[in-house]
Amino acid sequence: MDHSELMRAAVAAQKMAYIPYSGYPVGAAVETEDGSIYTGCNIENAAYSPTACAERVAIFKAVSEGHRKIERIAIVAGDNFGYPCGVCRQVIREFIGDGEIVVGRGPEEYRVYHMEDLLPHSFGPEDLGHCDHPEVEK
Ligand code: THU
Repeated sequence: MDHSELMRAAVAAQKMAYIPYSGYPVGAAVETEDGSIYTGCNIENAAYSPTACAERVAIFKAVSEGHRKIERIAIVAGDNFGYPCGVCRQVIREFIGDGEIVVGRGPEEYRVYHMEDLLPHSFGPEDLGHCDHPEVEK
């Protein structure tokens, strides 16, 4: 799926956002190593802190269906470029490898990043000697 198509999937997911408190809709679409697409929207909560970000909803859907590698994630938010929050950057970091992070205002206007652009000198699976992550050299 090209960047525009994945952005379109993120825009469709954005329409599902449950945002009674912030009014700030976010959509995300993840493409996995085999071309599967998983989408997510932000889901807010009256107690605030249980709120889930769109990126993590999409990624957790993919991982819970057995995927361990994300080729790209597209993110769309509000009216402007919606960059992922710090927690989502760390979650993206776990599965993106050398994949792309597409931040956009819609299918026609987006910017493409790699993890090092958004979370330099990050902590990841490679820093733990004993985990069984597919990206880790044994
Ligand atoms: N939000 C996301 O969905 N992703 C981000 O990366 C930033 C924040 C959501 C959480 C909350 O529902 C709303 O945006 C305002 O913070």
